[in-house]
Amino acid sequence: MNSLQSTTTLHNGVKMPWFGLGVYKVPEGSEALESVKAAIKAGYRSIDTAALYQNEEGVGQGIKESGVPREELFITTKVWNSDQREDRVLEAFETSLQKLGLEYVDLYLIHWPVKEKYKQSWKVLEKLYKEGRIRAIGVSNFQIHHLEDLMADAEIKPMVNQVELHPLFAQLELHEYCKKQEIQIEAWAPLGQGRLLDNPVLQEIASSHHKSIAQVILRWDIQNEIVTIPKSVRESRIIENANIFDFTLSESDMEKINALNENKRFGGDPDNFNF
Ligand SMILES: NC(=O)c1ccc[n+]([C@@H]2O[C@H](COP(=O)([O-])OP(=O)(O)OC[C@H]3O[C@@H](n4cnc5c(N)ncnc54)[C@H](OP(=O)(O)O)[C@@H]3O)[C@@H](O)[C@H]2O)c1
Repeated sequence: MNSLQSTTTLHNGVKMPWFGLGVYKVPEGSEALESVKAAIKAGYRSIDTAALYQNEEGVGQGIKESGVPREELFITTKVWNSDQREDRVLEAFETSLQKLGLEYVDLYLIHWPVKEKYKQSWKVLEKLYKEGRIRAIGVSNFQIHHLEDLMADAEIKPMVNQVELHPLFAQLELHEYCKKQEIQIEAWAPLGQGRLLDNPVLQEIASSHHKSIAQVILRWDIQNEIVTIPKSVRESRIIENANIFDFTLSESDMEKINALNENKRFGGDPDNFNF
């Protein structure tokens, strides 16, 4: 884990970068395109989008214009809840692929565990995976009980679980469970969607390393073997966020950050959501 292009190996052997760009709330069109291009230019190789974000066309265009060969990139997208509810997972996948302008995605995720539906959705993902149209399949916002329920009937175990995870919400039990199951954990809202960036404990650690709070959090992710995908639309922050491979948090720094955990979610609750 010594560069932006370092990878973790998923349980099916596919290599996934530890670090990537998230594009939630990045407007479709030029902003999506320019963010993706700026990230790839800065050395990012992984981009995380979703049908929900409605920016797959801009993301796809950014990928194309980056000039980096497709096989060097790792592209994630996700099937949205309404498509699960309406049994349109296959159509949703085809639409995403078409918008992205790609022939395959590296990772396709079930965005949320829609009750009574996610097992059926998983069957479609398994089929697409077996056909070679997706290199790895996974889930997002799954709790331990969702994973157990899914795996009770699944042919293929999810390779990734992407969940809200940051110093105030460390997801310790879920992370431990995923490690045992060889399911790679991936953090969404690693920066707490900006809410963590004035924390005094993090500020003190950041100052001692001449780094920013964002860099300290992202380094904490990597040292904890958590894939991380911070979002920014600003080139300077895209570069700053990735500049975390030239310092190491000490054990005592790590402990101080671990102690910030309050099991505090900012986003939706996977056991009780109405979207
Ligand atoms: N699976 C899911 O359900 C789910 C849910 C949410 C998110 N996600 C994924 O996870 C990605 C990351 O999560 P997120 O976008 O919600 O939140 P985040 O990455 O924790 O935070 C993004 C916010 O922090 C700001 N920011 C970024 N770098 C900064 C820096 N160095 N200094 C100061 N501010 C900085 C950004 O503003 P600027 O853009 O103005 O720089 C933006 O407002 C998403 O983009 C998406 O791909 C997945």
